[in-house]
Amino acid sequence: MEDTLIIIKPDAVERGLVGEIIGRFEAAGFEIVRMRMDRLSEEEARRFYDEHVGKPHFPRLIAYITSGPACFLQMRRDGAISRARTLVGCTDPAEAAPGTIRGDLAIDLPRNSVHASDCPEAAARETAIIFGA
Ligand code: CDP
Ligand code: MG
Repeated sequence: MEDTLIIIKPDAVERGLVGEIIGRFEAAGFEIVRMRMDRLSEEEARRFYDEHVGKPHFPRLIAYITSGPACFLQMRRDGAISRARTLVGCTDPAEAAPGTIRGDLAIDLPRNSVHASDCPEAAARETAIIFGA
């Protein structure tokens, strides 16, 4: 079994898509381990997206992710990290395939509705930031 960190981002929470998105993960065999509904502080957001510091999209990413409540989930299944990335689809909703969460539900960049950890190290780091050790 493997764990990953999923975020249902503010644009999706605002549009009432929490149940729809969690349902897609559950239908794909994911189990919810921990869940937190919260608006991230700017400090937490900057720590979470540390690797994006200095990139052109960093300011809009921090403004967006702190713009309203988001839903944070530690999710578990075998191959969770790669399976979640497949379920979520391409970063840019305009390029995400139909049938993926971003392809079906997301708006644009940065409002792409979901986050999913991209490797085991990221999953561990992100889970510690969101849920503590
Ligand atoms: O979320 P993902 O791992 O697919 O993409 P990323 O490249 O790690 O970028 C993190 C987040 O920054 C994205 O999910 C977008 O919300 C935002 N972003 C953006 O606004 N503009 C870009 N050109 C790239 C990313
Ligand atoms: Mg990423």
